[in-house]
Amino acid sequence: SVGYDLVVVSNRLPVDVSVDQDGNVSWDRSPGGLVTALEPVMVEADGAWVGWGGAPDLELEPFDTDGMRLVPVALSAEDVADYYEGFSNDSLWPLYHDVIEPPTFHRQWWEVYRKVNQRFAEAAAAQVAPGGTVWVHDYQLQLVPRMVRELRPDVRIGFFNHIPFPPLELFAQLPWRTAVVEGLLGADLIGFQRAGDAQNFVRVVRRLTDLTTRGQMITVPADAEHPERHVRAMPFPISIDSKKFDELARTPEVQARAKEIRAELGDPEVVLLGVDRLDYTKGIRHRIKAFGELLEDGRLSVPETVLVQVASPSRENVGAYQQLREHVELLVGRINGDLGELGRPAVHYLHHSYPMEEMAALYLAADVMLVTALRDGMNLVAKEYVAARSDDRGALVLSEFTGAADELTSAVLVNPHDIAGLKNAIVYAANIDPREARKRMRRLRRRVLENDVAAWSRSFLSALAAVPAPLGSDT
Ligand code: G6P
Repeated sequence: SVGYDLVVVSNRLPVDVSVDQDGNVSWDRSPGGLVTALEPVMVEADGAWVGWGGAPDLELEPFDTDGMRLVPVALSAEDVADYYEGFSNDSLWPLYHDVIEPPTFHRQWWEVYRKVNQRFAEAAAAQVAPGGTVWVHDYQLQLVPRMVRELRPDVRIGFFNHIPFPPLELFAQLPWRTAVVEGLLGADLIGFQRAGDAQNFVRVVRRLTDLTTRGQMITVPADAEHPERHVRAMPFPISIDSKKFDELARTPEVQARAKEIRAELGDPEVVLLGVDRLDYTKGIRHRIKAFGELLEDGRLSVPETVLVQVASPSRENVGAYQQLREHVELLVGRINGDLGELGRPAVHYLHHSYPMEEMAALYLAADVMLVTALRDGMNLVAKEYVAARSDDRGALVLSEFTGAADELTSAVLVNPHDIAGLKNAIVYAANIDPREARKRMRRLRRRVLENDVAAWSRSFLSALAAVPAPLGSDT
């Protein structure tokens, strides 16, 4: 074939591969917001998706599934340790999330990051049709835009950053900061979650390079091989397949399961819910601490009120994640030991991930959804909760430090560092007047149902299509 008009490149494919002892290959849906958002886009676009299958040392041929072409990139065990766990998740992730945990920098990790980015770029360059579009995703692949441009000067290149882009003062710590900025500037369009992220990036360009910027436009001057180009840095807040969630939550099966969940919890008056990857950016400890204090203070009590915390396993080989797990589990154990009763724990802690149907039922079963991230690019869980509540009931407590808070201003907004304020917000949401709750939820739902993930990808791809054709040869 001559290739695909749209090639998406992300660290993970939408599926996780596993191979059993007899060598049988099976697939599971992979975790996280990026895949949640992109999957429906790709099914519609009939494009190719370049990414990693989620297990080391797996050499697989490209294959078709659910109307997409999946092109697996192989990572060795060393690549996983240095590029994925190391540079991506122990250097960049904490650096880009306000250094909540201190980032670790290793030259070896950086070398492997570069090498692996080159491999993704080559795979993408081999798939894209002449004059086509390559859309690169997230912090694991920031060098890919420039590498693709070197290989395929005929294609349009977009980059979308799913996580926050840090302020200059933090980004400047990165020993390879200039190379990362130059990697990103290989794109024609660089998308961010929030306007503030795009502004941070433009400021970084102004201070760390000698390029000129005007508003959101950055000019890359001509050199021997390339003509002058303009790169745009703009916000495109991501969303979910809202209609799909809304419809799922209306099915009799999901509604029956929601009732069953409440019964399994002992039919409490108030169910509080947290749903996160087990990640230190999510504010899980702040949330559980606030809940524990409310029980101690007697402002809430068991078994009338319970907290369900789904914490899905994540990045389990990275030290900071192992420590977080220990802290959370210690805290949950203490609260349940001190304040639970026989058969009636205060915190129902679940270290699992669940299919979409079970998530929808949990959202319907929850009176209060707690999203208390200390920093989060967007937070799609907040949007999923809202999309599931077609009954206009339930209350969303939402951290100001999420991208979602820019849009979901009718939520009960909190600063999760302020434990006293967080406690007040939880009590307020647990006792909210039903009319007030309905008014807020209607506003939230309007926002989430209008701005769905299809609108997000359409607006990104049409802004990218509006860029003058590379090499001036529009097709
Ligand atoms: C966030 C990131 C994604 C990542 C996901 C899951 O949503 O933006 O790029 O895929 O977390 O994390 P993992 O390390 O398991 O891919």
